[in-house]
Amino acid sequence: MSESLKKGRGGIISIIAVNNQKGGVGKTTLTFNLSKGFAARGKKVLVIDNDPQGNLTSAFFENPLDLHSNIIDLYDGEKQIDPYKLDDNLFFIGADIHLAKIAERDFDIIFKLKEGLQTLKSDFDMILIDCLPAFGYLNMAALNAATHVLIPTKPSPFAMVGMKDLFDTVAKVQKRLNADLKVLGIILNLVEGRKTTIANELETVLRENYEFLIFDTRINKGVKLEESPSFNQSIMEYDPNGKISKQIDSLINEILERLQI
Ligand SMILES: Nc1ncnc2c1ncn2[C@@H]1O[C@H](COP(=O)(O)OP(=O)(O)OP(=O)(O)O)[C@@H](O)[C@H]1O
Ligand SMILES: [Mg+2]
Repeated sequence: MSESLKKGRGGIISIIAVNNQKGGVGKTTLTFNLSKGFAARGKKVLVIDNDPQGNLTSAFFENPLDLHSNIIDLYDGEKQIDPYKLDDNLFFIGADIHLAKIAERDFDIIFKLKEGLQTLKSDFDMILIDCLPAFGYLNMAALNAATHVLIPTKPSPFAMVGMKDLFDTVAKVQKRLNADLKVLGIILNLVEGRKTTIANELETVLRENYEFLIFDTRINKGVKLEESPSFNQSIMEYDPNGKISKQIDSLINEILERLQI
């Protein structure tokens, strides 16, 4: 790891891959809100879209065609990438559909993201990587580059079933690629206000298997959280006094406590 990355501003850098091969569990929504939230707390944050769908890029930019800084340059490793400055503490590297082509390249792309990050000049406290809903090279690249994996899930049967596969993958990465990778935690998202029996049962099963990894904070399902990226705003900007804003805030506290930064 390069000196500039190792240092960060507060000491050790945390590189968090927000990952779950299951689609639609809130990876992008949480990456967007957490990165803005960490930056608002004074952390210097680089946030990266590692998904050819480019949803995170659309959340930050009204017109994603204005993409100034593209993750493809990190995978290519041919030129120095210049993360786009969103504000003093928040820097961004975006993605678009062309990233899908990268995934079809040789397997050595799983090392390229880590290598690309090492050559970055800026110092960051945290890097957040929004991952795509699939296993495969792009996700391996993120898990290889990361110090931590943050796992959003939702109380649905299919999401729970996929959890074991995800933990198997993380274990393989730890064994063969990145021994330092840690599971930062599992965050229950899209929790209905009034809990159904099935949601209760699913949560019980999840807690029986992964008790210590589950964050105390849970994120409710809320229309405002769904709407806010359309205005390029975090929930804290869009609805600062709302319930979900407070939940994201307490998730940030829990994450910073677990990272001890
Ligand atoms: N807590 C929530 N309340 C309401 N809507 C939510 C919540 N979390 C996510 N959503 C909505 O659910 C959908 C899926 O969320 P999101 O795109 O963040 O998931 P994802 O895991 O990134 O999906 P993908 O796997 O396709 O990348 C989006 O429309 C998003 O706005
Ligand atoms: Mg997504």
